[in-house]
Amino acid sequence: MKLVGGDLEVPLVTGEWVRYANLDNAASAPALESVAAAVDELLPYYGSVHRGAGFASVVSTEAYTRAREIVRGFVGAREDDVVLFTRNTTDAFNLLAGALPVGTTVLTFTGEHHANLLPWRRGDVRDLGIPASPEDALRTLESALRDIGGPALVSVTGASNVTGEVWPIEAISALSHRYGARVALDAAQLAAHRPVDIAEWDVDYVAFSGHKVYAPYGAGVLAGRADWLDAAEPYLAGGGATRRVTAGDVEWNTGPARHEGGTPAALGAFALAAAVRALDEEGWDELVAHEEELLERLLTGLDAIDGVRTYELWGRGHDRVGVVSFNVAGLNPALLAAALGAEHGIGVRDGAFCAHPLMDHFGALRAVRASIGVGTNADDIDRLLGAVAQIARDGVAWTYTGSDGSVLPDPDPRPRPSLGGLLSGPLVGGRSACRG
Ligand SMILES: Cc1ncc(COP(=O)(O)O)c(C=O)c1O
Repeated sequence: MKLVGGDLEVPLVTGEWVRYANLDNAASAPALESVAAAVDELLPYYGSVHRGAGFASVVSTEAYTRAREIVRGFVGAREDDVVLFTRNTTDAFNLLAGALPVGTTVLTFTGEHHANLLPWRRGDVRDLGIPASPEDALRTLESALRDIGGPALVSVTGASNVTGEVWPIEAISALSHRYGARVALDAAQLAAHRPVDIAEWDVDYVAFSGHKVYAPYGAGVLAGRADWLDAAEPYLAGGGATRRVTAGDVEWNTGPARHEGGTPAALGAFALAAAVRALDEEGWDELVAHEEELLERLLTGLDAIDGVRTYELWGRGHDRVGVVSFNVAGLNPALLAAALGAEHGIGVRDGAFCAHPLMDHFGALRAVRASIGVGTNADDIDRLLGAVAQIARDGVAWTYTGSDGSVLPDPDPRPRPSLGGLLSGPLVGGRSACRG
């Protein structure tokens, strides 16, 4: 699958230019070329969604409506599920958290991304700890569910953004439903790597982000059961969310409109739909096989480097997507990541991955994460392995400032693109434009 920037050449601090090896797909993935082309094609017709009779408005509204149906198909939503466009997964879970019936208990495992931990903390939340195995996860969940009398929601990731490990979603759904609890699936990582089917898995809600499925245009998704969403306060009170407003009263819409107040990010939604359709059309068997091959190469290579430790909860035999977090003994991960970028043209993420409790569990404040996407090839993996081995052996070859989470090359002579003057031209506004 071709990506915008798939052949990107980037400067190194030494003055050379190399092909960018993007191993940071788990954070944000580049756009598919087909997605950018679909957006370009829609742009001339861009107009007000739901609010205009002009042709551009008609086309934009149809594109937005169709995007919703494509996403419905992609996640395998039931006919009566609501499919909402949000900004991202974080937004989706904040929306759902505000829609829980009063008295709902939310159950989450400790290793979740903060987006699937913090929104629930506004209400009653039970922390299920870090299970030693998938079976242990089910045992812990069952004993917690036994204690809960009222409505409950179990919110769990499909694949961990730290370890890549795939969670036993269907078993969690079956167990939760036996105790009358609903299930929300954080598919932020899973959706780019595996097919999602919430009807088949009997999952009640699913959330994911466009920017992780090769559509970085600002839209995400929350899909699932309509009843709680239709009964909840609108997420964004304003135009579009209402049926009728009088001086003293308001009748709110139901369905997607209820929570999508204001002008929607129609291009983002359309891009997201174009991306998920492209993934479906490419074929998941091929995508998964390609990724598994590269993942194996990455893990085997990391294992062969002295001092490397990779992080996983359930051992190497467990199913995982192409996400690997690791550390090199004695090396600051932020320095390693900075050197990979500055000296080798390799993009990785470092830090605690918005999963602090999980990193605490691993006893590592921070790590480096390499993540595979549809544009990754064996050369990218080999370059990473070669560079990590070299840095582990010889140390970094440039000077850097900062410590902890933020290490930067110093000096950093790499030329930046001007981006039409926005990155390099004078700032507009500023002090002189400040008029009182
Ligand atoms: C597993 C998981 N859940 C949720 C999120 C939050 O996604 P977003 O930042 O797009 O809201 C991420 C992002 O990294 C993630 O990896």
